[in-house]
Amino acid sequence: MADRKPAAGRFITVEGGEGAGKSTQVRRLAAWLDGRGVETVATREPGGTPGAEAVRALLVTGDTDRWDATTEALLVTAARRDHAEKLIRPALARGAWVLCDRFADSTLAYQGYAGGLPLDGLTALTRFAVVDLTPDLTVMLDLPAEAGLARAGRRTASGPAAESRFEGRDLRFHEAVRDGFLDIARREPARCVVVDASAPADNVARQIAAAVEGRLLADG
Ligand code: TMP
Repeated sequence: MADRKPAAGRFITVEGGEGAGKSTQVRRLAAWLDGRGVETVATREPGGTPGAEAVRALLVTGDTDRWDATTEALLVTAARRDHAEKLIRPALARGAWVLCDRFADSTLAYQGYAGGLPLDGLTALTRFAVVDLTPDLTVMLDLPAEAGLARAGRRTASGPAAESRFEGRDLRFHEAVRDGFLDIARREPARCVVVDASAPADNVARQIAAAVEGRLLADG
């Protein structure tokens, strides 16, 4: 049933630590869905709208201790509100599938599991900002923190070096981020699928496509 065009938009998020390959896989999934006649909108958090991109610049640049975890949670949530209202909801309403590189699970993983903030408070904050907007499917790209940081470091060395504020955190922080994503996936198996991101990109893309096919396309 791969070529059956679904009637309504779906919201897919791709999550994972630094260097897990999220943006590559969002692009590949968009191309795969486009090939099946599905209109897609690929976007990212923090960001996706001009206002949210301005907040992103505050969050991801500067010294590692520029913001504490609470201020980070408020910044990403303000950006998420703008993104949800101006881009995600309108796209879903017209039937497009929205593929988002990070969403609310990143706030739980980074500011909660790794940053030490209570998960129920962060969940309430997200609900206050975006009410009932929840992903239909979340792909967790899983990779040991050390391997991801090495990949991200190579990327930073050859790209925009300024976006490296979180990469400056220690290994233990990034391991807690990884464990956080895995814990969320364990708690919400109906929404989440964990994919081994250490595999070659083609292989990862195939696994993601299979999950989308099985969980979203098959039920139209
Ligand atoms: P990116 O490198 O995947 O584009 O994400 C930018 C950084 O923002 C990344 O290091 C994780 C961080 N972040 C949070 O800490 N909390 C959030 O809720 C989101 C969406 C991102």
